[in-house]
This record gives sequence, C-alpha cells and structure tokens, in this order.
Amino acid sequence: MKLDTSQSSPAESYKLLTNLIVPRPLAWITTQNADGLVNLAPFSFFTAVANKPLYLMVSIGQYEDGRPKDTARNILDNGEFVVNLVTEDVFDAMNISGADFPPDVSELSMAGVQTAPSVKIAVPRVAQAHASLECKLFSHQALGNYTLVIGEVLMFHIDDALVGPNNRIQGFTPVARMGSPSTYCRTTDCFDIPRVTYAQLKS
Ligand SMILES: Cc1cc2nc3c(=O)[nH]c(=O)nc-3n(C[C@H](O)[C@H](O)[C@H](O)COP(=O)(O)O)c2cc1C
Repeated sequence: MKLDTSQSSPAESYKLLTNLIVPRPLAWITTQNADGLVNLAPFSFFTAVANKPLYLMVSIGQYEDGRPKDTARNILDNGEFVVNLVTEDVFDAMNISGADFPPDVSELSMAGVQTAPSVKIAVPRVAQAHASLECKLFSHQALGNYTLVIGEVLMFHIDDALVGPNNRIQGFTPVARMGSPSTYCRTTDCFDIPRVTYAQLKS
C-alpha cells in the first residue's frame, strides 16, 4: 500500500500514523486551573527530548469544537504540570481520566485518584503513580490543531523499589499505547544488548 497524505482524510492519516509510530509511552498529566481545581488526563504524543537541561514534550490537541483541552489551557496559563507515568495497576484510573469531562469537573474523584504534593511546583502529582516528573513550561508551539508543549523536568519522584545501583531503574513496567483508539502493550518482555562501537566492528 502507498498512501499520499495529501489525498487521504485527516482521520485516516491520523489512524495510520498512530498505529505505526508505536509503542508510545503515556504521560498522565496533572495540571491546575486558576481556581485551584486539579485536572488529570493521559497523552501519548509524548517523549523525552533533551538532557541538559532535561526537556520532555507532549502534544495536546483541541476538542472537536475548537476549545483547547483543559491540560493545554492550564499549562499555558500557569506554566506548571506533572507527568505521572502509567503502570498496569493504575491503568483503569488513567483510562477514566481520558473521558471528556467538562472543565469545571475534576477527573480525580471519578478515577479514584489521590494526589500528593509536589516539591518545586504548586501542581500536585498522582499519589498512586510509581514515578512522576515535576515540570515547568519551557516553550510551546502551535502545530495545526495541536499545541506542542516543551517542559523542563525539575524534580523526579520515583518509588525507592524501582531504583537500583547507580540509579538504574529496575522493575519498572509502564504500559504503552500501541494503536488508536484503544490498543495497549506491556513492557515486561525486554532484552539487553550492549551498544557496539566502530572500533569493535573494524577489528
Ligand atoms: C491513552 C490515551 C492517550 C491519549 N493521547 C492524547 C494525546 O497525545 N493528545 C491529545 O490531545 N489527546 C490525547 N488523548 C485524549 C485526552 O486524554 C482527552 O481528550 C482528555 O479528555 C483531555 O482532557 P483535558 O481536557 O482534561 O485536558 C489520549 C487519551 C488516551 C486514553
């Protein structure tokens, strides 16, 4: 199959893109609005993008009627968010938090999620998450009907049980998005292969 994206509908192209660029990790993001209401929603257009300083990015679309999603609006309003990572034990709560809640309703109680305070920002993190990253907005860029948000990671919260010698993360098994709309995968089947150098290849 060959498909010229200029000849396909946005919905068809989106389906292909999001079923091919997989697996995508899940950023389960807490933000806060001007009244202090905590918002929670999952995003899979998400990855790490730099290390000095530490930057990550998440891309947030609009609702069908053109309204910004609450997560994007809150981040642009006050510049703070927490990326909580998603493991299977919090999967159902993550899924509930992705429903189309009105802006004045917090997803937290319906998803059975408790929060814990952050250290460097006012926005709290998800208490049940095994790892959370406190972030401050670095920059944002309109991408068609999406807003690309780049955040600087200010603080890690990681369950002690996941941190091995030399801060190597061990036993962390996040779930990831495979296809849209609702196929996921586990990350329990991993393998290690040492990186090769050019010198080794030449010898
Ligand atoms: C697993 C999963 C991944 C998602 N990824 C994205 C994404 O990358 N970008 C996006 O705009 N919406 C994504 N969504 C949809 C949002 O989570 C959904 O629109 C949510 O209601 C937004 O909430 P908010 O208005 O509170 O920010 C995803 C939903 C799920 C369940």
